[in-house]
Amino acid sequence: MMHKISYLLRLRLPFLLCLHLLITVSGIDQWCYKTPHPDPCKRYFINRNGFRPPTQLSDFRVMLVEAAMHRAISARNELASSSLNCTDGQKQAVLADCIDLYGDTIMQLNRTLKCMSPKASSGKQYCTDFDAQTWLSTALTNTETCRHGTTDFNVSDFITPIVSKTEISNLMSNSNRQRSPLDHRHG
Ligand SMILES: *[C@@H]1O[C@H](CO)[C@@H](O)[C@H](O)[C@H]1NC(C)=O
Ligand SMILES: *[C@@H]1O[C@H](CO)[C@@H](O)[C@H](O)[C@H]1NC(C)=O
Ligand SMILES: *[C@@H]1O[C@H](CO)[C@@H](O)[C@H](O)[C@H]1NC(C)=O
Repeated sequence: MMHKISYLLRLRLPFLLCLHLLITVSGIDQWCYKTPHPDPCKRYFINRNGFRPPTQLSDFRVMLVEAAMHRAISARNELASSSLNCTDGQKQAVLADCIDLYGDTIMQLNRTLKCMSPKASSGKQYCTDFDAQTWLSTALTNTETCRHGTTDFNVSDFITPIVSKTEISNLMSNSNRQRSPLDHRHG
């Protein structure tokens, strides 16, 4: 009997370790494939230090909004530092608009995160799922408005690398789509 147990343990332990490793490594892929834009999702999370895959959908949704927030903050900082050296009036105007739009985007993402945090659901309810979805849509629209503005004014070569290389819109629409199934379940 004892012999049998230790045999099983010996057999299973390495197997379990391998399985755990496999789940950890491939974990985020599985989650990202649930989103409309898996690639920016995977690229973002794979490059994070100390990254741990989520265990449930609600964690993943928070991670997506946080990802969009990080990207939006770094895009706004890059836009702001580009505008310091910008002497072209037209470019400067477009930049100023984009900086405002990104500032608002960050604010919308911030209130969405606050709404999604566990504290919000256990204690006082700050918002409904509908509110959060509206805020995410506004955040997304802002980034699109900035991008359209840059093409209208023919300065896309200048700003688009900042706002598109970060793939913020995709991350944000991932965040928004991830809310929908839960909305239906919880009403
Ligand atoms: C502004 O231009 C100066 C001189 O060309 C450069 O040293 C500096 O890094 C630039 N700053 C930004 C934020 O691009
Ligand atoms: C988010 O909101 C809180 C206040 O509610 C503020 O302290 C914090 O700086 C905000 N974060 C960002 C990134 O704007
Ligand atoms: C946009 O700018 C490029 C060069 O910067 C120029 O060749 C092109 O004609 C411009 N297009 C418009 C519509 O102004």
